Amino acid sequence: MVQFSLAIVAAIIAPVASSVQITVESSGGNATTPHQYGFLHEDISNSGDGGLYAELIRNRAFQSSERFPADLSGWSPVNGASLSLKTLDQPLSSALKTSMNVAVGSSKGQVGFSNDGYWGMDVKKKKTYTGSFWVRGAYEGTFTASLRSNITGEVFGSTKLRSRAKASEWIEHSFKLVPTKSAPNSNNTFTLTFDAAGVKDGSLDFNLISLFPPTYKGRKNGLRVDLAEAIEGFHPTLLRIPGGNMLEGYTNKTWWNWKETIGPLKDRPGYPNVWGYQQTNGLGLMEYLELAEDMNLEIVLAVYAGLSLNGDITPQDKLQPFIDDALDQIEFVSGDATTKWGSVRAKLGHPAPFKLRYVEVGNEDWLAGGTAGWESYKEYRFPMFLKAINAKYPAIQVISSGSVFDGYNIPAPGNGDYHIYGTPDAMVDQFDLFDQTPITHIIGEAAAVHPNGGSGWDGGLMDYPFWIGTVGEAVSLLGYERNTDRIIGAAYAPIIRSLDRWQWAVTMIQFAADPALTTKSTSWYVWELFAGHLMTHTLPASSNFNPLYYVTGKNEDKGTYIFKGAVYNSTDAADVPVSLTFEGVKPGTKAELTILTGPANPYGYNDPFTGVNVVKTTREKITAGKRGSFDFSLPNLSVAVLETVPSKHPKRNTMRNGLRN
Ligand code: AHR
Repeated sequence: MVQFSLAIVAAIIAPVASSVQITVESSGGNATTPHQYGFLHEDISNSGDGGLYAELIRNRAFQSSERFPADLSGWSPVNGASLSLKTLDQPLSSALKTSMNVAVGSSKGQVGFSNDGYWGMDVKKKKTYTGSFWVRGAYEGTFTASLRSNITGEVFGSTKLRSRAKASEWIEHSFKLVPTKSAPNSNNTFTLTFDAAGVKDGSLDFNLISLFPPTYKGRKNGLRVDLAEAIEGFHPTLLRIPGGNMLEGYTNKTWWNWKETIGPLKDRPGYPNVWGYQQTNGLGLMEYLELAEDMNLEIVLAVYAGLSLNGDITPQDKLQPFIDDALDQIEFVSGDATTKWGSVRAKLGHPAPFKLRYVEVGNEDWLAGGTAGWESYKEYRFPMFLKAINAKYPAIQVISSGSVFDGYNIPAPGNGDYHIYGTPDAMVDQFDLFDQTPITHIIGEAAAVHPNGGSGWDGGLMDYPFWIGTVGEAVSLLGYERNTDRIIGAAYAPIIRSLDRWQWAVTMIQFAADPALTTKSTSWYVWELFAGHLMTHTLPASSNFNPLYYVTGKNEDKGTYIFKGAVYNSTDAADVPVSLTFEGVKPGTKAELTILTGPANPYGYNDPFTGVNVVKTTREKITAGKRGSFDFSLPNLSVAVLETVPSKHPKRNTMRNGLRN
């Protein structure tokens, strides 16, 4: 009772919280190209093979390395066939030396093999699945390719194709398969059978057995549609490739050699991925470039810098071959079709050069090789790459894999790369980190991954992106965008992960073979909101920050004014009233205000297995009042964007998807 009375008194005498007054000047910010929101992709957590790369067959070509010997994982015999690996005198190619021998034994009728995919396969009726395989050995008859349930054996679709197989010759067979029924779940297999009686010498050899569902934009050897669309859906404009640790490899003999990732699949040997599995390299450099083209993304192309995860440091007198490789790589991407590597790209079907403005040298060179590795980078590795790249490509901006905050006095005209995987509080500390930094940086990897109170990697990784971490990311993004004259953009990392095998939990999108499990995390919603409202110019505003953090600006192309904000840990978790005025914006002007709020538990997340989205989006039209101000209130731990309704006569209209033509 006493407590009740005190509460009433407190409510009556409590001062009404005064609004945060924000007055945005009409000029004086950064004249800039839009801040870029992007992502890093590398094959981690099966985000490539079995993920974004749409191939359904696991271990399709028995690729191997010293670290990952060839095996028959994924494959099972059908009707008593006997499967074994063979290294034939006549392999399919010098890249694919191991193949699968299928011996008929005493079996009668249809024999063969099945593959259970990357933890299942999604089978949808009326969709066209495109398959192929190479076979060696004499066989007269037909092959039957089918998609069927791994539980009941029910066949959802099958097709027959006449054998052209011959003794002592590898012959490719292709087919299309259109299921007549959708599978009720993803526990399905692909099966290839043939008539035992038609096999002349008791067995057949198979390799590069492949099956693709329809792909994103219909590309051959392309991407899984729902995952590509989920990524595209957050409106990224920037793609950093090819990693990350994947670029570096385990040793300086097994780095991600881009030359082994291009051309026909039978010429790609695969790669001992640093995340614990042999990767196919089906998602190679060309496929990454096509991804960028299809999503209209600016590329940040990383080139190997002579340091690998085992700490091997390439000595100065052995570095030149790697520099030459990097120059070849740049030529492959951006050289015209008359150049040596540009002509290779042209032969692969892309005569036009890809736009390339940013090249990054190495990845996190301050880490793997310890002090000696970092010193070698600063002393000779980065300077040698910088000089060579700029000598041949003066327009390219070369980025060091470390930042000024890693203790690098980056030589001109180099730029820096800064990575942050932090607690929500650490993400908020990013807000003004770059205010005094004259050197241009990219934020090449960013995500909130630890709970507050956790310190470093020992502080525990969260299971998924979580709401308070996502709000922390929002604050960091606001800080980066405020400094966009010196920050190229920020990339979320890693972008996606398989729920079946992963090495890194906190990713923007989660998936499994079953597309129903594809889940956009809390972070997806915030990045989508910010990336969906690009500013062409930031504009200065008066007021302090904390607990409301924000950036203001305009989009001249659309003729709009924009406010992006986030409230992080307000006093007593109270709402923050805001009174926002843009100089020159008249009373009565309309704007759309979008506010994202999260669950009661700040550590709540979007769980793929419940399908519950904890992010609540409210969108309303508001009008500037008599004094021209937009008045609204933002809850604690919320993220918001206000954009005025586009004027009828925008000044210019030259932006495509955030990038100027
Ligand atoms: O994004 C996951 C990994 O984190 C990257 O491969 C590496 O650069 C960083 O340490």
